[in-house]
Amino acid sequence: MSYVKPIGVFDSGLGGLTVVSELVKRLPNENLIYFGDTGRVPYGTRSAETIERYARQDEEFLAAHSVKLIIAACGTVSSVAAHTANDLSVPFIEVVSPAVDKAVSLTKNMKIGVIGTSATVSSGTFERKICEKLPDCAVISNACPLLVPLVENGWINRDDKITKGVLERYLEPMRTAGVDTLILGCTHFPVLKDIIGDIMGEEVNLVNTGEQAAIAAEKYLTQNNLLNTKAANGTHEFYVSDRVESFSKTASILLGRDISDSVKYVDISKIGG
Ligand code: DGL
Repeated sequence: MSYVKPIGVFDSGLGGLTVVSELVKRLPNENLIYFGDTGRVPYGTRSAETIERYARQDEEFLAAHSVKLIIAACGTVSSVAAHTANDLSVPFIEVVSPAVDKAVSLTKNMKIGVIGTSATVSSGTFERKICEKLPDCAVISNACPLLVPLVENGWINRDDKITKGVLERYLEPMRTAGVDTLILGCTHFPVLKDIIGDIMGEEVNLVNTGEQAAIAAEKYLTQNNLLNTKAANGTHEFYVSDRVESFSKTASILLGRDISDSVKYVDISKIGG
């Protein structure tokens, strides 16, 4: 019965947990397999060829676990290498389109900001998709490469002066342009949403890529009769490509529960190729 199969979720590291936490809230029965490529994070500073190669290995690893859906819970893979899904026999959801749909539905002044990794911003994928839907919309994008390492290292407290200072600098062009909607175009960034909200002010809509991807997954599974209707809490397995301990520690904080018994190491370099 395919509906009991797990959902596969991957990211370069911890960021995809922003999708996982939303999935768990919305779909507590679902079994989940998460892969965080912590041995090769960050993806967002690498070439398109490297990101594509990593994405194919991540997808192959999850597909080998007989998942019913793969979510590329990574703005970088979704922007640069979403075409890798064309070679998969498993349904696939990326995080750009759901976030764009939400942002275009929210903006009133037709000024949307996008923050993401360097690879995401230079791909222009968010901008292109926004302008396909709202041709007259101004899109202000800014690459924020320092944010992924800050999150991976757990510098995520609302009162962290260094993280706040870095964000103030990155968000200045958004404030100057007067965007009324800001897409957090990297799944690591919703972890910092309180600080981002403090800087942008409460009148600016923040679009959480993790949340929108989870909503898209719920919709897909519902429409295709693939929801796990077994009345039991789903199981959650986590795999990483480097030290289990450091991932377990920050992931447990982000998910609000101790997951250290469910985290395993995998040598992703041995997959595919
Ligand atoms: N969470 C990834 C994203 O959404 C981070 C990319 C990276 O590793 O640089 O883009």
